Amino acid sequence: MAALTEKILVTAALPYANGPLHLGHLAGAYIPADVYVRYQRLKGSDVLFICGSDEHGVPITIRADKENVTPKVIVDRYHNLMKQSFERIGLAFDNYSRTSLPLHHKISQDFFLNLYNKGYVKDQEVRQYFCATCRRFLPDRYIEGECPHCHSKGARGDQCESCGRWLEPEQLIDATCKVCGSNPEMKTTRHWYFQLSEFQKRLEEWQASKPEWKSNVREFCSGWFKEGLTDRPITRDIDWGIPVPLPGAEGKVLYVWFDAPIGYISSSVEWAQNQGNPERWRDYWFDPKTRLVHFIGKDNIVFHAIVWPATLMAHEDFILPSQIPANEFLNIEGRKISTSRNWAVWVDEYLDVFPPDPLRYWLESNAPESKDADFTWKDFQVRNNSELADVLGNLVNRSLSFIEKNFESKMPPAGSLTEADQGLLATIAESAKCIGSSLEDFQVRRAVMELMDLARAGNKYFNDAAPWSSIKSNRARCASTLNTTLQLQLALAVLMEPFLPFSAEKLWKMLNAPGSHRDQRWHEIPALRLPDNHPLGTREILFGKIEDGIIEAQIKKLTISD
Ligand code: 2FM
Ligand code: ZN
Repeated sequence: MAALTEKILVTAALPYANGPLHLGHLAGAYIPADVYVRYQRLKGSDVLFICGSDEHGVPITIRADKENVTPKVIVDRYHNLMKQSFERIGLAFDNYSRTSLPLHHKISQDFFLNLYNKGYVKDQEVRQYFCATCRRFLPDRYIEGECPHCHSKGARGDQCESCGRWLEPEQLIDATCKVCGSNPEMKTTRHWYFQLSEFQKRLEEWQASKPEWKSNVREFCSGWFKEGLTDRPITRDIDWGIPVPLPGAEGKVLYVWFDAPIGYISSSVEWAQNQGNPERWRDYWFDPKTRLVHFIGKDNIVFHAIVWPATLMAHEDFILPSQIPANEFLNIEGRKISTSRNWAVWVDEYLDVFPPDPLRYWLESNAPESKDADFTWKDFQVRNNSELADVLGNLVNRSLSFIEKNFESKMPPAGSLTEADQGLLATIAESAKCIGSSLEDFQVRRAVMELMDLARAGNKYFNDAAPWSSIKSNRARCASTLNTTLQLQLALAVLMEPFLPFSAEKLWKMLNAPGSHRDQRWHEIPALRLPDNHPLGTREILFGKIEDGIIEAQIKKLTISD
């Protein structure tokens, strides 16, 4: 019986197009998602990997206000920049869309109307802060004040960054307008509320059927359930966003957290259109057999695990998320990332100096899966030099240069294999299985460690077999050793693909292996073989060492600005 092809719809949180991509973005959602997707493709799963820029909301308008330009200028600039950075670091999205597209506006408005017509969205008069100087209502992030809980200054209208508590703007002590600094007044306005409270029971039951979810997601949700879900306003009084499609709602837009997750759907629709098969997105979104996996950072949990599934339930026909792998945060050199204070490592600046894979490797082996991680340039250098270069790179380089010298760059014949040779080859199957099951569990750290352990086993085997000595006494034995080492590298080239896609491709080419390593299948990796006397490709250094001076220059560049 043919194995069933799994259908998996993978999304990575749509980043706000309000600044360049930094390491914090990559660590939380994007690299883990990309590793997972590349692995699933090798497994033969039918994967659709979706992302795009989140171009609405206050994060965009605040940036535009700061630079004194229109929001459109901001999103055009950063959408393109982010898209480019994602490509350079090897994010293998099937589609990278943007929420300012008319297509997305229409789908979001239809979604809103669907919920409204079923009675799940109702309007309500509310009292809200209004700045008389700026002559506008102030959405959450436009208001600052003292946190009522920890009393730190500069808490936002939606959250205090110091103590992490969620806030309502009117809870702030001495609230001021973020733009002009004056004290706003309370005024009546009208907003549309999604009836989230009606979904609490269904959400709780649904989550009870997901014991495999990560504890950070489950615990976060149970806290919300305990407090009791309340109806949430899904419209705002700002002039940048998707117009609320109702008479009498002029000047109001959909709340960014209402339209952003719908971006997963519209990006899929755009993908299908670009494929010339405009209905194909339905095969994913409407098929209950599709696994919908949302990769996010921990600050997005409530929206993906509670509010978004409830809106999907309300709409009725879409599938619900199967998994929500949420990661913790990444700090830089012991400090919380602050883009406004320039305490960040920007991906495009990194890529101007280094190749992509060493960064991917660092982020994979230090993925903030269960607690925050800390990026330091020194540790980045150590991981590159003593693991990528000294373990993986060295295994490849020493064996290929040996073959160059002694076997005319052709695959030495396998001959008869000893127990040690067979033992190494058997390790490939075990490793492929372990790496695969770690990735099925979203444990990228463990998976990449298992990959490196296999390269270590290769080095140990090579040392024990000592081909530099057998070449003098027993050429056939020496050939078997080299053959075995290279068969391992053939397997490694495929096993590396989810983690180190650029180096995987390079290694495959150096071995002059036929076709593409991406066309191989995970379960067939242990059986991959290059024939005796197969001509090898040109040897290159797989991972260069990074000198102290280069690292010191990067450390110097990191200065906090006030
Ligand atoms: O936190 C953020 O960067 C949001 N722009 C994430 C949105 S995820 C999804 F809903 F689109
Ligand atoms: Zn103001």
